[in-house]
Amino acid sequence: MVNQIPNEVIEQIRNSNDIVDVVGEYVQLKKQGRNYVGLCPFHGEKTPSFSVTQEKQIFHCFGCHKGGNVVTFLMEMESFTFFEAIKHLADRAGIDLPSNSLKEESSLSKESQQVLSAHEWLTKLYHHLIRFTKDGKEGLDYLQGRGVSDEAIDAFQLGYAPNTKDFTATFLEKKGFHNQLLVKYGLLIRNQDSDLVTDRFRGRVIFPIRNHLGKTVAFAGRAMEGQEPKYLNSPETDLFQKGKILYNFDLARKHIRKLNEVILFEGYMDVISAYQSGIENVVATMGTALTENQAKLLKRYVDTVILCYDGDNAGVEATYKASRLLQQVGCQVKIAYITDKLDPDSYIKEFGGEAFKREVIGASQTFLSFYMRYLRKDFNLSLESDRLQYVEEVLKEIAKLESSVEREFYVKEISNEFSISVDSLLEEIKQFREKSGSEKDKREKDRYTKKVQKSSSKLLPAFHNAERTLLAYMLQNRAIAEKVQDELGASFNIDAHKIIATYLYAYYEEGNPEDVSIFMDRITDESVRQTLIQLALIPTQTDISDKEINDYLNIIRAESSTGVNIKQLKAEQRLAEQQNDPIKAAQIAVEILELQRQVKHLN
Ligand code: UTP
Ligand code: MN
Repeated sequence: MVNQIPNEVIEQIRNSNDIVDVVGEYVQLKKQGRNYVGLCPFHGEKTPSFSVTQEKQIFHCFGCHKGGNVVTFLMEMESFTFFEAIKHLADRAGIDLPSNSLKEESSLSKESQQVLSAHEWLTKLYHHLIRFTKDGKEGLDYLQGRGVSDEAIDAFQLGYAPNTKDFTATFLEKKGFHNQLLVKYGLLIRNQDSDLVTDRFRGRVIFPIRNHLGKTVAFAGRAMEGQEPKYLNSPETDLFQKGKILYNFDLARKHIRKLNEVILFEGYMDVISAYQSGIENVVATMGTALTENQAKLLKRYVDTVILCYDGDNAGVEATYKASRLLQQVGCQVKIAYITDKLDPDSYIKEFGGEAFKREVIGASQTFLSFYMRYLRKDFNLSLESDRLQYVEEVLKEIAKLESSVEREFYVKEISNEFSISVDSLLEEIKQFREKSGSEKDKREKDRYTKKVQKSSSKLLPAFHNAERTLLAYMLQNRAIAEKVQDELGASFNIDAHKIIATYLYAYYEEGNPEDVSIFMDRITDESVRQTLIQLALIPTQTDISDKEINDYLNIIRAESSTGVNIKQLKAEQRLAEQQNDPIKAAQIAVEILELQRQVKHLN
């Protein structure tokens, strides 16, 4: 469907959303020369191939070849329709869409839209109850008793579901939702015997669980008087998968980006307490082990993850497992250790937010310090054999460190504690490193540059390069495009180039600006679009002489004429063969060879 938003508004929306900022909400970008580079969010990789060009407002991945502008980025990333992407960008920039702009089809199914809408209504309803009504007083007392401020209740949209059997059911029915759907998504329960439908969340404090776009996709209901389970959660559905969501990610995202660090907790209340202490780069898994999916998500945003799990045994084990997973995906890990078997929330309650910042987060340890302590539980260090084995295990881990200064630091620690000479410890580490090839990793660092060089320096025939260069200039300069249009029209030899030129001429004729990020919206074919982005990324000079342009044009024309001739001759050759005329066929073959030689010479 054609979008109903005026072009000027779309242009204003694009201009208000720098692609570097928007992509930066999903990918940790680092400036490299004129571009920003990072790990591609569209395919798994450990060394960056993904680049964003601010000047041209486009992105491109040298690995998987995805590319586009700020709008197509969101369409790929969020499975948005064009309209949804524009709407998202408008909201992001605080621009109101004209109220008469027709809504395009949503990318979500009807069912998902309804489910999200039901969750949105309930979030507001439960929140209203707890903040402003007598019915929610019990819940409010509970939260206040736990030191949760009104401001935090608002920020996290906490609420209360009354202990009535059909409060939610009646409310949603009045809004026109179907029971069957609400049962499927765990907002209501169908009683097996009576077939009656009743509320799932009753007499519980409600924690809405929001996805990364801030939409409620599930609820957790906290019991207030020791009922089981402590937290009743919505069931897993297509919209809510515990292993893919991190609690509070939507609100924490910009703080995480700014600080290039994230603090990971185990529970809802830990997040809320930290938030109240002014620490906002905080998220939590929801009572399950960190998944690879979540680890990769974090890696896209940060280099360092601070793990702050409960101080009990289960918490320490979970810390070890999460550390390993995070390291596998390439994150640095720090461990914020909580004493006295407390959890972050109860620590803050007992000692205050300042102490938490200083003594827990501020004092977080390196993974190695944690590991050295963690490993001790498996050994009896009063036994010589255990001591040696322990040292061996720790050395293996030290060997993985990139920095020699760091390696020496820990080696000294071990040397002191176990009275082994620094030299022999370092010697052992050296052997571990040689075996595992750690030195090799260093070389991986310039991989990105190599990938880029490789993709641009492919050996192409001269006519192909001429077409690419010319199109690169045409994309930036209307006058050059017009000259080429007059002299060559769309007679490029490469099909994708023909298509691009044809669209480009029309685009300029309509008076549009020299802006490849806007132009590319016209190209719907994925492979032509990839070609276009590669063209846009070809480095060009500010000035190109008419002579140069003419040279390119000549090379292109020569190819097309010889190309046509060769094709024709080949057809004649086949005919001669069919007619059993080998002499004629051989003569034609010589002609073809001659033409091909000429082309080579020209090139
Ligand atoms: P905890 O038992 O540590 O809860 O579980 P908590 O965060 O300290 O909660 P409070 O302070 O007692 O209220 C950690 C997380 O595990 C999930 C929740 O996400 C919780 O925050 N969990 C726990 C459940 O989903 N269901 C449960 O019954 C218990
Ligand atoms: Mn806890």
